[in-house]
Formats: sequence, C-alpha cells, structure tokens
Amino acid sequence: MKPLDEVDITKKNERNVNVSRRLLITIDGPAGVGKSTVSQGLAKRLGYVYLDTGALYRALAWKIQQQQADPQDSIRLATLLSKTEIVLLPHGEQVSIQIDGQMIEPRVLRTPEISQLASSIAAIPQVRAWLLPIQRRFAEARGVVAEGRDMGTRVFPQADLKFFLDADLSVRAERRHMELSQRGQSQSLDMVREQMAARDIRDRTRAIDPLCPAKEAILVDTSHESAPQVLEQMMKVIADRL
Ligand code: DC
Repeated sequence: MKPLDEVDITKKNERNVNVSRRLLITIDGPAGVGKSTVSQGLAKRLGYVYLDTGALYRALAWKIQQQQADPQDSIRLATLLSKTEIVLLPHGEQVSIQIDGQMIEPRVLRTPEISQLASSIAAIPQVRAWLLPIQRRFAEARGVVAEGRDMGTRVFPQADLKFFLDADLSVRAERRHMELSQRGQSQSLDMVREQMAARDIRDRTRAIDPLCPAKEAILVDTSHESAPQVLEQMMKVIADRL
C-alpha cells in the first residue's frame, strides 16, 4: 500500500484536465465511523475547507444545556434560537466554533452528555431548519469537505461527490471508547456501545432528514480498515473527478 503522501491527486492536472475544479464533497455516516479523521485528512490533502456540521448541533445542545431550556418547548426554543449566533471559523482543515461571541473548546462539545443531547435536538424540525442556511452559507465557496448525517441527502444534494461511511457497531464503539479514554473522559465500553446504539436508532429513524445514504453515495465500510487506508481509497475516487 502506498503511503498517503504518495497518492497522486494531481495526475489529471498533468493531463491538463480542468485544473481549477474545486469540489463540494459530502461525507455522511453514523458516530464512530472515522468521519472526522477522514474528512479532516481529505480537507488537508486537498487544501479544502472542512465543515463539521455535528459541531453545530453540539454547540446548540451546549447552549440549551447551559440555559437549562426544555428543547421540546417550541416557544422557548424559538426564542432561544432567535437569540443565538453560531459562527464557524475555519482555519486550514480545522474549524473553531463561537456561540454568541464565546469561543467553545472542542472538548466541551464532545462529552457523552452533549452527544446524546445533540442527537435529541437533531430530531426537532425547528432546529434543523434553523441550522440549514448556516451550513449552506458556509459552503458557498467551493473546495469543501462537509461531514454530517444529511449532507448528501438534504444540505448539499448538488454535491460533486458523496460518500457514506459505515462500520460494525462493536468496532465503532471500541474506537469511540479509546478516543474518550485518550481525552480523559473515560466510560465503560458497554456504556459507550449502548449510548451509540441509542444514538444510531434516533439518528436513523427520526422523521426529518434521517441518517441514510444518498442514492448516488459511494459506500465505504471502515470496519476492517485504518483511517489512512480509507483516506487513500477515497482520494483515488476524488482524483478521478478533479
Ligand atoms: O457528528 P456528531 O457525532 O458530532 O453529531 C452529533 C449529533 O448531531 C448526531 O448524533 C446527530 C446530529 N447531526 C445531525 O443530525 N445532522 C448532521 N448533519 C450532523 C449531526
């Protein structure tokens, strides 16, 4: 297998084909599938902007938690949304997030509690409608890798290339467990698996924009492959479209 740095994405350019084409690439899939690692890796390799839409849901969940608001109270939620400003600040393949002028540390948004709350509020149509233009505005300039649950189906149906990553629940739970341990947010593997399964069901079965592959999406099973292997596979597909 070639190391990542040797995958030649400029082959087409040598043949003088559409050298300036900058793509809108969507990457959807459930939690723990390696979406973020791969999306950031692709953005870095291609010199594209990385859009982490899960961070938007998480930031909003964080604010709702801070205000102890009941997200099912639609009037209170409408008021909260009308007074909320979320700004994504891309820098390279990373993106920082600001809510109401306050920068939020990524670690604060990645706790198990915020994961569950983000998934719950993501089923509320008001929330999805509010976040839709924010996501679309972010990708007005081409050269974007957008990661989420409904990128290919709802937010960017016009995307140039759509990927859907999936993997066995047990593998995903192990990955997430290790990631949490590395951040000092330890949880038992059983608990991680249980919460992930609950989140999967909620994300896949919600009435509005459920997690599912767009019909033209390229399916990638990451159960038995490392992130660099997955990235290499995807780069090959992308290179053909540049
Ligand atoms: O990708 P993530 O784990 O950071 O996302 C957190 C939750 O946000 C996820 O469980 C469902 C919701 N989400 C969504 O519904 N649509 C998106 N495009 C991104 C995230």
